[in-house]
Amino acid sequence: MKKFKRTTVTAALPYANGPLHIGHVAGAYLPADTYVRYLRLRGDDIVFICGSDEHGVAITLGAKKEGVSPKAFVDKYHNLMKKAFQDFGIGFDIYSRTSQPVHYETAQEFFKTIYDQGIFLEETSDQYYDEQEGIFLADRYITGTCPKCGNTNAYGDQCEKCGTSLSPRELINPRSTVSGNTPVLKPTKHWYFPLDKYESWLKEWIVEGHKDDWKTNVYGQCKSWIDQGLQPRSITRDLAWGIPVPLAEGKGKVLYVWFDAPIGYISATKELKPNDWQKYWQDNDTRLIHFIGKDNIVFHCVIFPSMLKAAGKYILPDNVPANEFLNLEGEKISTSRNHAVWLHEYLEDFPGRRDELRYTLTSISPETKDADFTWKDYQSKVNSELSAILGNFVNRVMVLTWKYFDGKVPSAHELPGTNDHRKRILEKYQQAHNDLNASVKEMISALDDFRFREAQFQMMNLCRIGNKFLADTEPWKLAKEDMEAVSCILSYALTVVGNIAIACEPFLPDTAQNIKKQLNSTGIDTGWNAFWKKAELIEPLPESHQLGKAELLFRNIEDEEIEKQINKLKKPKAVEEVKPESAVKPLKETITIDDFTKLDIRVGTILTAEKMEKSDKLLKFTIDTGIDKRTVLSGIAKHYTPEEMVGKQVTLIANLAPRKMMGIESQGMILMAEDADGKLRLLQPNEAVNPGATVS
Ligand code: MF3
Ligand code: ZN
Repeated sequence: MKKFKRTTVTAALPYANGPLHIGHVAGAYLPADTYVRYLRLRGDDIVFICGSDEHGVAITLGAKKEGVSPKAFVDKYHNLMKKAFQDFGIGFDIYSRTSQPVHYETAQEFFKTIYDQGIFLEETSDQYYDEQEGIFLADRYITGTCPKCGNTNAYGDQCEKCGTSLSPRELINPRSTVSGNTPVLKPTKHWYFPLDKYESWLKEWIVEGHKDDWKTNVYGQCKSWIDQGLQPRSITRDLAWGIPVPLAEGKGKVLYVWFDAPIGYISATKELKPNDWQKYWQDNDTRLIHFIGKDNIVFHCVIFPSMLKAAGKYILPDNVPANEFLNLEGEKISTSRNHAVWLHEYLEDFPGRRDELRYTLTSISPETKDADFTWKDYQSKVNSELSAILGNFVNRVMVLTWKYFDGKVPSAHELPGTNDHRKRILEKYQQAHNDLNASVKEMISALDDFRFREAQFQMMNLCRIGNKFLADTEPWKLAKEDMEAVSCILSYALTVVGNIAIACEPFLPDTAQNIKKQLNSTGIDTGWNAFWKKAELIEPLPESHQLGKAELLFRNIEDEEIEKQINKLKKPKAVEEVKPESAVKPLKETITIDDFTKLDIRVGTILTAEKMEKSDKLLKFTIDTGIDKRTVLSGIAKHYTPEEMVGKQVTLIANLAPRKMMGIESQGMILMAEDADGKLRLLQPNEAVNPGATVS
């Protein structure tokens, strides 16, 4: 295997369109974090890159649904996700976002580099257009019937039922998802990446070149995609939200989100290392690893590498250890049905128990096939594995050392094997030592191969072997007759505890810290990374070293805690939806001064005010407009009482066509300021003016 000098690790940039759930965590972020922690412990030069994916239809449609601007929408979710990752302890070197100026520059430059070589195809073709909304309908803006499987809700880019990747023109009975209308065809120009031209190179690079080192699920998907034949892919869109196409003829068009997002890995590296980012992307001694979920395989293995190849100078992914999906209690995780375990809610409900979730998710990791998370399983993994095996071993050793040696690391005495019990101890020690070293080797080789379930299992084996060693040697029974033997046993048991503190760090970083605290090892742990380099047990603790207090590492999960979580599933969310910090409505389209002067806006004084019967919203006013005294209705009963309105000056549109409401004609409209909470306030001149004063 080739020797590399450094590693660039990326984890899929999640769409900033909703909070993170355990499916995201298990799919990409936890395996990436585990791997990165391992590389860091080994002393490798690495960068760990992630950030929010803020473009595309997933964002614009989400924003529309929440009634906020795309900008307010991505701000809200970017902050929420960034915090959840941080609180969960995913150790990115940078968590950036694709709205950063450096990303706009990088993505546009990347486009230009390929464009200037004449690689892109340009084509004007008829595309579906929603006449009512005035927009072209690409991707998720259009639905219809899937030509392959008949699913009536297939999207313009993909049928989620059968997985086929589609283009809008293939849909039967197409409909706009925005208005529901049947779209019309209208010509528009777009740029295409000629993926077909990379077919033979991809065959050589993936189908031949990565047959043995890429996971079968990843390799299989790539191969079947390539074998079906590749087509040019359009990489621009008629959308108002995204990175503008950096060409004069591209005005009003943006880059397709799957063109810009992966370039985000490069932009974020630039942001992190402005002076030597090239090392991590353009040096053949650097290894590039993408952690993703299975729905992103084609983009990371086929399309993005072809783009990198076209741009020139860039390294290609060395491996893409994509995971399959995680289900929850036997069903698909679903955001819309709230069938999910949300990361930020887990962290609130189980404070200080990040490792418990990490452990469970790694031990059921969907590495080779879809997996299922159940709360019962979580409970049993915490109680009968973490607590009963790891926690119990560490605690027994700590307590016994305090009991017999005042918490000081006892001497490892050579045990002259003269009598039976000493012979037995030596034998058990030899056996444990061999088993432990075998597990350490197996753990490290599994980490190297992205087999994190197996790696964590081998880590736990260190605890199992430790427990067995104690059970076999029974130091508590020897305390009266042979203290030297007790000393020898506990000294070795403490060595195992120290090695567990080291070995568990990639999987259980908080637990590693807790054990180190109990071992009081700060300052003496400087050479501990030899464990990773040599792939064998080290001697972590010197004789007579004073240990810290013994504490339980894990608390059992009670039935009630689990029941509460199960009951929470599928309950529609309370309206506690996080309010965007600035829920400002998007800017309306530009008008001319003539449009504005058509409005007759003037100040009037309220003469009378009363509640409208049968309406809790409307108040009825008589207003002196300077020209006349007229009746105006206004929906402000929740914000002002009739009494407080009388005598007030208001601003109104006086030339609005009269409108009947609840049987009464309203002859104008009172202007109000409305904030994000829906609170209404009157617009008044800041000093009294004569009724009829005009506003301009
Ligand atoms: N936002 C995409 C998703 O959530 C992943 C983008 S990965 C990147 O499926 F490479 F494009 F950044
Ligand atoms: Zn289908």
